[in-house]
Amino acid sequence: MECPLSQKQLDQKFWQNFAKNHWEKKPLVLKNVKSGLLEMGDAEIFNLLVLYSDRCRELNDPTGFKFYIDGFKAEAEDVLQVLPEKEDTSLLGYHERMKSLFSDYCLVCDELLQVNGKKQHLLTEFTNELYRHVGFPNRFSEIGLYLGNYRKTPFGVHVDSCGVFSFPVVGVKRFRLWTSAYAKKNPALDRAFKYDKHKKASQLLEVKPGDISYWPSSAWHIAESDGSFSATWSLGVWVDQPHKELVAQSLNDLLDAKLGIAGARVTTPFKTLHEKSGEVTELPEAYEQSIALLKNLSTSELQETFLKSWMKHISLQGFKNIPRVNMKLSLKSKVRLRSEKSLILWQQSLTKKDKFFFSFGGVVVESSKAQGLLKLVKALNNGDTVVIGEFLKGAEAKQDLHALQSLTDAGALSTAK
Ligand SMILES: [Fe+2]
Repeated sequence: MECPLSQKQLDQKFWQNFAKNHWEKKPLVLKNVKSGLLEMGDAEIFNLLVLYSDRCRELNDPTGFKFYIDGFKAEAEDVLQVLPEKEDTSLLGYHERMKSLFSDYCLVCDELLQVNGKKQHLLTEFTNELYRHVGFPNRFSEIGLYLGNYRKTPFGVHVDSCGVFSFPVVGVKRFRLWTSAYAKKNPALDRAFKYDKHKKASQLLEVKPGDISYWPSSAWHIAESDGSFSATWSLGVWVDQPHKELVAQSLNDLLDAKLGIAGARVTTPFKTLHEKSGEVTELPEAYEQSIALLKNLSTSELQETFLKSWMKHISLQGFKNIPRVNMKLSLKSKVRLRSEKSLILWQQSLTKKDKFFFSFGGVVVESSKAQGLLKLVKALNNGDTVVIGEFLKGAEAKQDLHALQSLTDAGALSTAK
C-alpha cells in the first residue's frame, strides 16, 4: 500500500538516528508515523482491556489495574466495579459511563501483554528493531495503558527506571518533562502537582493518535490534560539491570547445581575464627571445598551455563511476559507455532552431547536422546504444521510430550485445523 510522503517511516535510517541521538539521551516526538504498531489503536486496546477485565472479574482479583478518583487510589474491591465491559462497546463508551460517575478519574493497566495474543507480532516487530539498534534489555519491556479525563498524573512529577514510548489512541496527550539535572537542583519537583514556576525549564511533548513520543529513563515527567478524555498506551523499556546482575544470576544457577547440599547449608563449621591479634588466617573447610569445585569447572560448563541462561532470557523476546495459552497436548494433537516469528529456542548441551535444552517464554526444558523432539521443534520453527505423534515415538515419547506441554503452557504453540 502506498503511503503519503508526509508519513514518517520507521526505517533503518530512523533507527540509526534514534540509537545515536535519542536513546537514553533526549526526548523525541514523531508526528504521523507509519508503523504496523498503529494497528494497536482504540478498538484493539478496548478489546484487550475487556479481555483482561473479564479475567480479573473471573478471578475476583483486579491485580494489574489501578483506578484513581480525583487523584486518590481506589481500593481493590472497588476497582472491580469500574473496569471496562464489552457492553461499553468502545473506549469512548467506557468513558461515557465513567464520566457520569466521576469528574476526574484515571484507569491504569500494566498487564495487557498477558492478553495481547493477536497483535503481539506487531509489538515484536517494533521492539526487535529497537533492540537491534540499542541492545537487548537486560530487564524487559512492558506495556502500560493510561486512560481517563484526569488533569494530572495521579502520582505527580516522577521518574521511572525505564525509557518510555507513548502511543496515544484517543484524544491529545501532553507530557511535561524535566531533565534529571534540573530535577536534582529542584527537589521540590519530586511528586509535585503544582510546578508553575518550573514550567519554563520544562519541555512539553504533545501527541495524538498516529504520533509516537519517547523520553529517556532519566526524564522526570507528568501527564497534563484540560479535563478532556484521552487514552494512551506505552512501551516502557526498563534499563535498571546491569550486565553483572545477569552474570550473577547465571553463576547462581551454576552454584546451585555444583555445590548441591553443601551450597544450601545455613551455618559454617569452623576451628578458629581469628588469631589473638584479630588476624583472620583460616578458611573453613566448606570454603576450601567450594574453591576446589570452582577450580574444576571446565570452559564448556561455564559456556553451557551462560548460554542456557541467555537462551532463557531471550526466549521472553525482551518482554516482561508473553501471552500464555491453555491447551492440553496429546500425541494426536496437530499443532503449529502460535506466531511464526516466535521460535522455540534450543541448544545442544556442551557437556553431554545427547542432551538438548529447549526454551520458550522464560521456560527451559531439557531432554536426553531428544532426536524426536528436536526434529519436531525444527519442523515447527520451519513453519510446518505437525502431528506430534509422528515425531515423538518410543520410550522417550511420554517425557518429551511433557516437555513440549511446558513450552505450550508458556505460549509456544497453537492448534492447527
Ligand atoms: Fe512514569
